[in-house]
Amino acid sequence: MASDYLWFEGIPFPHTGYRIEDIRSIRDEFVVRDEDVITLSYSKSGTNWVIEIVSTIHTNGDPSWVQSVAKWFHSQWIETSAGYECVKNMKEPRFYTSHLPSQLFPKSFFNSKAKVIYVNRNPRDVLTSGFYYWRTVNYVKHPETFEQYFEWFLQGNVVFGSWFDHIHGWLQMRGKENFLMISYEELHQDIRASVEKISQFLGKKLGPEELNSVLKNVSFEVMKNNKMSNFSLLPDRFMDHSKGKLMRKGVIGDWKHHFTVAQSEIFDKIYEKKMAGLPQGLFPWE
Ligand code: A3P
Repeated sequence: MASDYLWFEGIPFPHTGYRIEDIRSIRDEFVVRDEDVITLSYSKSGTNWVIEIVSTIHTNGDPSWVQSVAKWFHSQWIETSAGYECVKNMKEPRFYTSHLPSQLFPKSFFNSKAKVIYVNRNPRDVLTSGFYYWRTVNYVKHPETFEQYFEWFLQGNVVFGSWFDHIHGWLQMRGKENFLMISYEELHQDIRASVEKISQFLGKKLGPEELNSVLKNVSFEVMKNNKMSNFSLLPDRFMDHSKGKLMRKGVIGDWKHHFTVAQSEIFDKIYEKKMAGLPQGLFPWE
């Protein structure tokens, strides 16, 4: 039965798999190391795509790691209690993932050289993807309708809080040497150039064959059929696989098939207001 969230400092979290004392300790006590590589995002922005890219770049295009180890073991979500325990005790190189807003992220990161890849996506598509995804997850509040989820999203009454706050918080890192921002749309439009950009950021030089192998293994079709990547191994108590899939459509602009004209106008107005002051054209969907 779906129920409400676990709240910490105004941010809603799923109440299963997360503990307040861990979330506080991650912010205040966890020591980020200079060698760490962190995939960061607001959920439903293409996180799993970037994790797969980072992991296959790390293995020089060899897919055996992503094909034999479940995603949540090779790049743990640090804010989950299990993920936190694991990352704390992990040897280098550490790869991990987070959806935390900047104010809840480990304080030690901001004085480290750890590398963060922050993936973002048109929030309209984030909303649409989230509507389908969160109703498959057994431990969060479920929307009855798209209209209801639309409202919750704009109010920030969804897991990990407001998209607008998340992006504003992390935009403060823009331009820092150890912070790479990449968008879902960029990955779609030119995956080769995006993978090259990420590998350069990670200080990895891939040969042509290695690069081709990364490209092949991070395609939607390959990831969709890789049970280590597609969440199909998540136990039924976490995810109701009959209700939907992580690898749903994997396209740009699906929101256009969901938003009414009125919703689109409401969204545009709120977007304009909340993003005022940022340079125009900062994101490919603008
Ligand atoms: P849709 O629900 O729009 O299909 P996250 O990993 O942050 O939870 O984001 C999930 C979204 O990324 C889903 O979007 C999923 O289909 C999409 N995605 C994951 N891997 C992808 C890939 N290789 N190519 C395109 N889209 C991908």
